[in-house]
Amino acid sequence: MLAICPFCRARQEVPDPAPAAGVTCIGCHRRFAARRTAATPAAEPAEATVLRIERPHGVFDRPAVVARRGAAVAAAPLPRAEPASEDDPGPPILAAPDAAEERAAQAALSAIRRQIAATPQQTAQPAPLPDIAPEAPAARRIGVMLSKGGVGKTTTAVNLAAALAMAGRRTLLIDADTQGQAAYALGVSPQTGLAAFVEGLADADEALCPARDNLWLLAGGKALAGLKRLITRKDFGGERTLADALAPLDARFDVAVVDCAPGWDALSVNVLFYVGEVLVPVALEAMSLQGFSEFLQSFAAVSRYRPELSLSHIVPTFLDKRVRGPAALHDELAALYPGRICPPIRYNVKLSEAPAEGKTIFEYAPRSPGARDYAALARHVGG
Ligand SMILES: Nc1ncnc2c1ncn2[C@@H]1O[C@H](COP(=O)(O)OP(=O)(O)OP(=O)(O)O)[C@@H](O)[C@H]1O
Ligand SMILES: [Mg+2]
Repeated sequence: MLAICPFCRARQEVPDPAPAAGVTCIGCHRRFAARRTAATPAAEPAEATVLRIERPHGVFDRPAVVARRGAAVAAAPLPRAEPASEDDPGPPILAAPDAAEERAAQAALSAIRRQIAATPQQTAQPAPLPDIAPEAPAARRIGVMLSKGGVGKTTTAVNLAAALAMAGRRTLLIDADTQGQAAYALGVSPQTGLAAFVEGLADADEALCPARDNLWLLAGGKALAGLKRLITRKDFGGERTLADALAPLDARFDVAVVDCAPGWDALSVNVLFYVGEVLVPVALEAMSLQGFSEFLQSFAAVSRYRPELSLSHIVPTFLDKRVRGPAALHDELAALYPGRICPPIRYNVKLSEAPAEGKTIFEYAPRSPGARDYAALARHVGG
């Protein structure tokens, strides 16, 4: 049968009946459960069917998004993917948040509270952010990081960098991920990038790919695996490899934005020794909060050696105002980090479509909620 991923809206074929453990989305690789409700038995393919979707924050009946192959799909229209405006709450909440998800989210929030208590310097208000003035001697360096995958790091790094560039900042986007998705999202195909530059195999003019006005890319990709090996083989000082190699680029740029890989490895540590500010996109669901809590521990370990490092921006992502779970988690996160919480990024299907076109959200859907949210984020962060 056909199903639509509740996270990224990718249409896909899933077994009928779907496995009890759920199916993995071909688009965003998240798991979701899909099954027919009793009211719409599979034996009546001609009738419009109802898909019961179990999202982390609740169970939803969506009309007519699933059908037997060959059967008429959908008598009723699909619900809108996102509210038309901020005031429009969209379709009503159809179910209470899932209790297990709520318990997991609360446990993760408690772990974050304990982590904040154990590192008092993180509870202090961050120092005022320096202006990004063209004559500033050193580029601001912002690392977009969280070890949990799929929380919106690349989407945030690409669109934040694009917004800063549009605001006239000379912006360097550094892709520190072997997936190399920043180039794909910007629709460019650089021959070389970060690994070659750091290893001294390419100079800055060869390695820097002009991506847009005021925006250059140091591309990631598989070559970074070799760079990681090089870093781990060093007897000492390996953690400063990236910082030492990239320092000469400071004079060319006003701001550098680093898109980090999921997980935690030698390159993640190197990024934390290079950047001055860390921006953490936190998807508003329990697993992402658990990842955030683990990331705080790793961050605290590194910041003992780099006390000037600031976890200065926490960006809630995948906010969906139509359901209670994410909205409540957003409020709790904002209460934990009053000085660091950034304007949230709403769930917006345009954000998931733009990379396939090689466009930023400002090029692909300039009036979409996603474009408005990333413009607001860029203004908040310092554009
Ligand atoms: N606010 C949003 N609304 C809808 N879809 C989004 C949103 N943000 C990101 N996406 C989509 O979710 C998926 C994961 O986003 P993204 O690649 O930015 O996450 P990531 O943290 O960089 O993942 P990874 O850890 O694998 O690098 C992508 O398909 C992206 O297009
Ligand atoms: Mg990514």
